[in-house]
Amino acid sequence: MIYELSNHLTKTLITHLRDEKSDAIFFRHTICELTKQLTYEALKDFPLVQKDVKIWNGTTKFNCIEEENIMVVTVLRAGMPMLDSVIELLPKASAGFLAMKRDETTHESHLYYDRLPPCEGKTILLVDPMVATGGSMIDALDLISNRNPKRVVTLNIIGSPEGLEKVNRAYPEGDIYIAQIDEKLNDDKYIVPGLGDAGDRAYNTL
Ligand code: PRP
Ligand code: URA
Repeated sequence: MIYELSNHLTKTLITHLRDEKSDAIFFRHTICELTKQLTYEALKDFPLVQKDVKIWNGTTKFNCIEEENIMVVTVLRAGMPMLDSVIELLPKASAGFLAMKRDETTHESHLYYDRLPPCEGKTILLVDPMVATGGSMIDALDLISNRNPKRVVTLNIIGSPEGLEKVNRAYPEGDIYIAQIDEKLNDDKYIVPGLGDAGDRAYNTL
């Protein structure tokens, strides 16, 4: 399933991201805020477990998400601020790293670094701000799925309708939480209106 956020604050933050006057620090900050919104939405259906907690007047069972079973996997570079944001909310979650670069001529993504801890039985939150052709997401999902996770949920900021459809067709059992579905891809496979190159915007490499 694809879930698109609909609140007005989300729209406002997306507009800040599109604005070319937003510098790298504000761009990363805004990505982090949007990621928090995506995380709240995605965690709504996560089961709660009861844990013994020692408080001021004794030990009692309280509800919480099983953070230790969650692994946040980021796709470098542009996914880095998203990872920081999720692990602030889930400090006991583990983290995995994939680095991919889209070839600007063929528009295909290439994996150049893989540092995933064991995924077996884990719920994976895969974070990457942009879903353009969907190639990077599908490559990341292929890699993760081969390692027997319990469930994979993706958190993305902006996607094209065609890229999201492709990801959804390849992984119909997965859930995609996205802040904004844009109009289309241009001939260079950039999202329109989009925000340009997210990695370059985040790290001053325009
Ligand atoms: C961006 C983005 C995605 C990919 C999306 O990364 O972060 O990973 O493009 O495009 P796709 O859906 O067509 O595969 P990019 O390759 O520009 O690398 P970067 O994060 O290092 O800038
Ligand atoms: N990668 C980006 O960062 N932006 C796009 O629009 C497409 C791919």
